[in-house]
Amino acid sequence: MAANQSQGPKLKVGLTGASGNIATTLREGLGDEVDFTCFLYEECGLEGQIVDLSDSAQVAGAFEGLDVVIHLAAQIAASTPWEGILQNNIEATYNVFEECRRAGVKKVIFASTNHTQHGEFMDGSPMKTDPAKCRHRARLSDLPAPDSLYGVSKLFGENLGKYYSLTYGLQFVGLRIGWTEQADDPRAAEGTDQEFHMSVLFLSKRDCVEAFRKALETDRDYVLGYAVSNNRNGIFDLRETAEKLGFIPQDSADF
Ligand SMILES: NC(=O)c1ccc[n+]([C@@H]2O[C@H](COP(=O)([O-])OP(=O)(O)OC[C@H]3O[C@@H](n4cnc5c(N)ncnc54)[C@H](O)[C@@H]3O)[C@@H](O)[C@H]2O)c1
Repeated sequence: MAANQSQGPKLKVGLTGASGNIATTLREGLGDEVDFTCFLYEECGLEGQIVDLSDSAQVAGAFEGLDVVIHLAAQIAASTPWEGILQNNIEATYNVFEECRRAGVKKVIFASTNHTQHGEFMDGSPMKTDPAKCRHRARLSDLPAPDSLYGVSKLFGENLGKYYSLTYGLQFVGLRIGWTEQADDPRAAEGTDQEFHMSVLFLSKRDCVEAFRKALETDRDYVLGYAVSNNRNGIFDLRETAEKLGFIPQDSADF
């Protein structure tokens, strides 16, 4: 499955959370290569279908005719209380997978997070990293170490992906994303108590686009990867991602 198929029609790719930060980066970076259908939570001036993904009745039929769904919609704050996590990250994610299965979508690309493994590196808060705990780099094969209910909800999504891959043959790519913002500037946290955290997790927009491009291209049944730039202070071992997904980041937080 190639993102930029030179012959034949473009891949039809559903984008949940389509008005959000990462979706904006992907619409700008991949919009010429694939045919996006946007799914929106509310009216925002963008063309798309308004669906509360936590409501299975609203999701029913939404993904008909799509090849791939990139599932970005979620409550993204690591401090989100359980009720929000349950509704928007767990129930909504189940509804997305179930509709993909029903509609015959071939692949789900799931926005997972560094927070699935950041627990062993954190400095009292999921949004801070302790330099003294960063003497090793975690691997994808390590046991999870979530730092929040948010991190736990993303492990749920990864495991749901494994289950749907094994049981229904739905291809799954889970990207454990670092920290990416529209400003695209690792210096944005300079002088704040998140400066080190940013230097560990920075993901440039260019690397973000490339990680999702590789996720669109892979033919693996189930694969996890890190979507993080090549940061000197990085806490993740990027070799398996390079081997299995072919994603090699070009940028870094170092300046
Ligand atoms: N930005 C990062 O650095 C980062 C890091 C790690 C993981 N992620 C993950 O990547 C994804 C996208 O992140 P982002 O920064 O673009 O977030 P964002 O908050 O900008 O976008 C998320 C979108 O999801 C939508 N949404 C939430 N609940 C919904 C529901 N029930 N139904 C429909 N839509 C709903 C919101 O309206 C919002 O537009 C998220 O899943 C996030 O957990 C992001």
